[in-house]
Amino acid sequence: MKVYVSRKLPGEVMAVLRKPLQVCCWPGEEDVVPREILMAEVSHARGLLCMLTERVDQELLDAAPSLKIVSNMAVGYDNIDIDACTRRGVLVTNTPGVLTETTADLAFALMMATARRLPEAQKFLLETKWSNWAPMLLAGKDIYGATLGIIGMGRIGQAVAHRASGFGMKVLYCNRRRNEKAERELNAEYRDLDDLLREADFVSIHVPLSESTRHLIGQRELSLMKRDAILVNTSRGAVVDEKALCRALEDGTILGAGLDVFEKEPLPSDSPLRTMENVVLLPHVGSATVATRIKMGRLAARNLAGFLLEGRAVTPVNAEALAR
Ligand code: GLV
Ligand code: GLV
Repeated sequence: MKVYVSRKLPGEVMAVLRKPLQVCCWPGEEDVVPREILMAEVSHARGLLCMLTERVDQELLDAAPSLKIVSNMAVGYDNIDIDACTRRGVLVTNTPGVLTETTADLAFALMMATARRLPEAQKFLLETKWSNWAPMLLAGKDIYGATLGIIGMGRIGQAVAHRASGFGMKVLYCNRRRNEKAERELNAEYRDLDDLLREADFVSIHVPLSESTRHLIGQRELSLMKRDAILVNTSRGAVVDEKALCRALEDGTILGAGLDVFEKEPLPSDSPLRTMENVVLLPHVGSATVATRIKMGRLAARNLAGFLLEGRAVTPVNAEALAR
């Protein structure tokens, strides 16, 4: 029973993919498997363990008649056409839960790094520009006591809210549905999106990318934000209209942005974001700790092996695919 793994993964992860599974693996650790090779490899695979860098669409499914499961090593699955998989009876799984705290840590770190201008300050020091202590040198924006607006109060949004309480922040959130548990336990107040944008000093995005969240934050939304507000995005780049964001950062509509994700990844070399002072840019490292990446890999591998060998996946996305 052949399965294909689209990236080189640690031994602890590969150990989960036991016999009788026949595992083939793309040997690259940093480079993405070329599309033609992926298509050829899945043509006789029962299972695919892939990354968010692989697009699983109708074309791939058509090339993979024996495919039964696509196990994504990510919590987000906007790289996968879920409806097409469901129609074909292909189960999709993701890796929720194991990366929640790690990603919330990064969102908070990015918010703090942007507010307190950490990369800019380090660059200043390393470029030996630091001649004296000065009253307003590299002065940033307070986090303690500020108002944080969380867009998307799922697992990660709630973990960010939990951290914010330690920083004495007032927490606002918006979500498709009100989350009364979060309101009680995390002291978070519900707002609709526009009011949240108007009131927050920091806005942090934690929604998945879907047709209903694509460009959720565009020119109109940015214009509602305070002029000294900071936008933080650790979800998916396309939730924000990046062109509109660039304009808002250039013309002072908002103060700054901390971005771990972009509409096009890797960030193109000619992106105007690269030369802006009021942004902190990271290469999509939200869940990147050694421990968490191993947990994500093991969960993805358990989903694949569990389903193919015992008929049971741990964290299915489209369980309805199995009813077919
Ligand atoms: C990473 O971005 C993930 O969705 O897990
Ligand atoms: C700054 O270093 C201070 O002592 O206020």
